[in-house]
Amino acid sequence: MKALILSGGTGTRLRPITHTSAKQLIPVANKPILFYAIEAIKEAGINDMGIIVGDTREEVKEAVGDGERWGINVTYIEQEAPLGLAHAVKISQDFLKDDSFVMFLGDNLIREGITSLVQEFEREKPAAQILLAQVEHPERFGVAELKDGKVVHLVEKPKNPPSNYALVGVYMFDSNIFTAVNNIKPSWRDELEITDAIQYLITTGYEVRPHIIEGWWKDTGRLEDLLEANRIILEDMESYCEGEVDEDSQLAGRVRIEKGAKIINSSIRGPAVIGENTIIENSYIGPFTAVYYDAKVSNSEIEHSIILEKSTISDIARIEESLVGKGVEITRSDRKPKAYRLMLGDNSNISLV
Ligand code: G1P
Repeated sequence: MKALILSGGTGTRLRPITHTSAKQLIPVANKPILFYAIEAIKEAGINDMGIIVGDTREEVKEAVGDGERWGINVTYIEQEAPLGLAHAVKISQDFLKDDSFVMFLGDNLIREGITSLVQEFEREKPAAQILLAQVEHPERFGVAELKDGKVVHLVEKPKNPPSNYALVGVYMFDSNIFTAVNNIKPSWRDELEITDAIQYLITTGYEVRPHIIEGWWKDTGRLEDLLEANRIILEDMESYCEGEVDEDSQLAGRVRIEKGAKIINSSIRGPAVIGENTIIENSYIGPFTAVYYDAKVSNSEIEHSIILEKSTISDIARIEESLVGKGVEITRSDRKPKAYRLMLGDNSNISLV
């Protein structure tokens, strides 16, 4: 089997972060989301991975490289425009050939991994295997209608969902999917939908096997989902300290301090992770916080947040439920007149008290 990982797309719901970066490379618990997908696929015994890239191709290629770090072979497949998931399958035929494959959306995270799911697919050999999860807002996803344990109908982002079973962004296909992607028309959003391609398989009599997943799953396309994924992964994390913690600091609960990080006169209450060469001084870092590498936090309090690399936060009373991009500076100033002085990217989102 092969794998096809989707790492294109525009990430509109995570602007402004995604104006300059790939959403799949945002770190969750200090590891890019995309790496969780690569590791889950590798763990399932698949070493040949095609990665679909779009506008953020350079950044993705730089982060993943040739896959040597994981002992896998990576082939990059260029998608000229985000024309849909089924379009991504269509342009990957040269790479996939007649092999069965797992298609994994690079912004999806599944706790239970995919090893047993791949085994089930290889054992049962349906034309497609889809994963379903019960969600509160099915209208945001592809939705499946089931009857006697079989999929009877699939619909993409319906206004009136027929059930609360959402399509998880991990699919398994044999080569019949090519007939399907070549026979469907673009949807209202002008994309070739994988949901429509799978519906085509159902309509033309192929077996589409549903597997309802019990563990958690997150599509990290929105800030609150990203923060929740960060929270859940941090909860599972092991503590370790490869940096320096001075005598005036306290670590409580599960805390990971990465190489070269320095904790000075601060209190870190886990689960939390402090990245390589990051400095935390006279500060409080609360539960569910991940500070990436080369950042600096001083005289501040942060909780339930993701802070990206090279950012500086100083003299800020409290930051919560936030995603701070790369190289951002948040400081307090005594300059007169007393005012907020901002330089925010397009589509930024800021709540002041
Ligand atoms: C895509 C699929 C949708 C699926 C979702 C899972 O949505 O079209 O059917 O439920 O991924 O993450 P999109 O990310 O394009 O909104």
